[in-house]
This record gives sequence, structure tokens and C-alpha cells, in this order.
Amino acid sequence: MTGTLHIVGLGPGGAEHRTLAATRAVRDAEVVVGYGAYVDQVDDLVNDGQRVIRGVMGEEERRADEALVLAAEGARVALVSSGDAGVHGMAARTLARAAELDDGDRPKVIVLPGVSAAQAAAAVAGAPLTDDFAVVSLSDIHMSWDRIEHRLRALAPSGIALALYNPRSSRRTEGFDRAIAILREARGDDGPVVLAHDVTRPGEQVERTTLGTLDPERVTMRTVVLVAGDTAAEAGPWLVALRGDAAVRA
Ligand SMILES: C[S@@+](CC[C@H](N)C(=O)[O-])C[C@H]1O[C@@H](n2cnc3c(N)ncnc32)[C@H](O)[C@@H]1O
Repeated sequence: MTGTLHIVGLGPGGAEHRTLAATRAVRDAEVVVGYGAYVDQVDDLVNDGQRVIRGVMGEEERRADEALVLAAEGARVALVSSGDAGVHGMAARTLARAAELDDGDRPKVIVLPGVSAAQAAAAVAGAPLTDDFAVVSLSDIHMSWDRIEHRLRALAPSGIALALYNPRSSRRTEGFDRAIAILREARGDDGPVVLAHDVTRPGEQVERTTLGTLDPERVTMRTVVLVAGDTAAEAGPWLVALRGDAAVRA
């Protein structure tokens, strides 16, 4: 007997940015599984009759397996992930593990999209990601810094806007400094940057700065960094990226 596993993107934090489908999947689940902080994000939905399994950082695979096993045994399981589960979230790892199961043992798996941090941050700043953009994680936990740097060096001269996830922790500061140095080398100092902290959560702060003047000490793991592309410009209080050759900054 197999159950259902919903891999749920919860949005960036605030309940009002959660989709109805995500809300329903968590409410209807018999078991809610997730990293502790993400389980806290659905406090308002969880009830006493549900089993809640709080995982720790770095044990994503174990969490995925636990959720799959419970669903394979017949439970309705919600595996919660922040933002969009498919953007540096739990979806890919969990689907890869599900694919390893025999067809008969595999529960039904449904991925529910959510508002990613970059989208939420962009909306507060204006519309800086309307033209092309790329999402880059600076975390070197699963990928070597050399490869991350290779990707940054390819993207830097392209002029494309960037959303930098997992930018800087108290232990991991050097990568962010290098990323900004690579971008300054290719794009100069004046390119607009948005530092968005705790977007849609209590304490939200969104700051505008530039590649040349940004203070790395302001950047933490609760920050998503938007580096404007070459079509971004100020429009009143907003930063907007108007797609078009005429908009490209020299
Ligand atoms: C493991 S990634 C998860 C990304 C998530 N799946 C998404 O789509 O937003 C964690 C990183 O996302 C960014 N992030 C997630 N939520 C955020 C928020 N509310 N405000 C600012 N940054 C956030 C930060 O860069 C953080 O280090």
C-alpha cells in the first residue's frame, strides 16, 4: 500500500506568501517532515493529530528517505522546504531517491511550487529580474568552490542579473568576497545590488547598494543578494530591468 508524498515549497516565510496548494498539503498530511526552521514556518497549520519530524541541517538525504519510506508505507506525507522546493531546495534530492525505488514501492510524489526568495526580494525592490536572470548558490557543501567560481566567471561578463543564494555564513566568508571581486572585475563598481534580508518574515530589510560599496558584513545566510543586470535602472524608488537593446548600460 503506498501513500502520497507532497514536496512542498512554503514560500519565503510569511503565511500570506504560501500557496493554497501548499497550505492544503500540510493541513491534510498525517506526517510533516522538514528542517526545523521550515517546520516552524507551518506552525499555524499543524495540529496535535499530526506527526511532526524535525530534521537538522546537512541531513537532507536522510529526511528525503524518511519521508519516502513513510509515504511508501501508506502515509500522507508533506516534506516542507522553504521558498520553491525546486530552487536549491528538497525537490531534486528527494525525486532522485524516489527514482531509485522499484515502481511498486514508490509512493505517489507531487512537487508543489512556491515563491522563491529571489522573486520575493525582487518584488520589494521593484522589478530587477524582469529581464533574464540566473540563480547561483555560493554554498560549497555539495559543490566545489572551483566549479562555483567557474560558473560566476562565465556569468559575470554576460550582463545577466544574478540572484545569489546561501551567500555568506559566519564560517564561510571568503567565497562571497571572491564572488563580488569577480563581478566588479567584469562589470565595474556602479552596478546596483539589492541585499534582501528575511524577506516576508518579521524583521524584513531590503537595502540598495552597489558592487563597489556593498558591505559584506551585512550579508548572512538569511540574505538573498540580487545583482542587477545590464538593463536595470532606477525608476523613481524602484529598480527595474526593462528588456530591450536600448536599455543596456554601456
Ligand atoms: C537552502 S536555500 C533555500 C532557497 C529556497 N528554496 C527558495 O526558493 O527561496 C537558503 C537561502 O535562500 C535565501 N533565502 C531563503 N528565504 C529567504 C528570505 N525569506 N529572505 C532572504 N533570503 C532568503 C538565502 O540566501 C538562504 O541562504
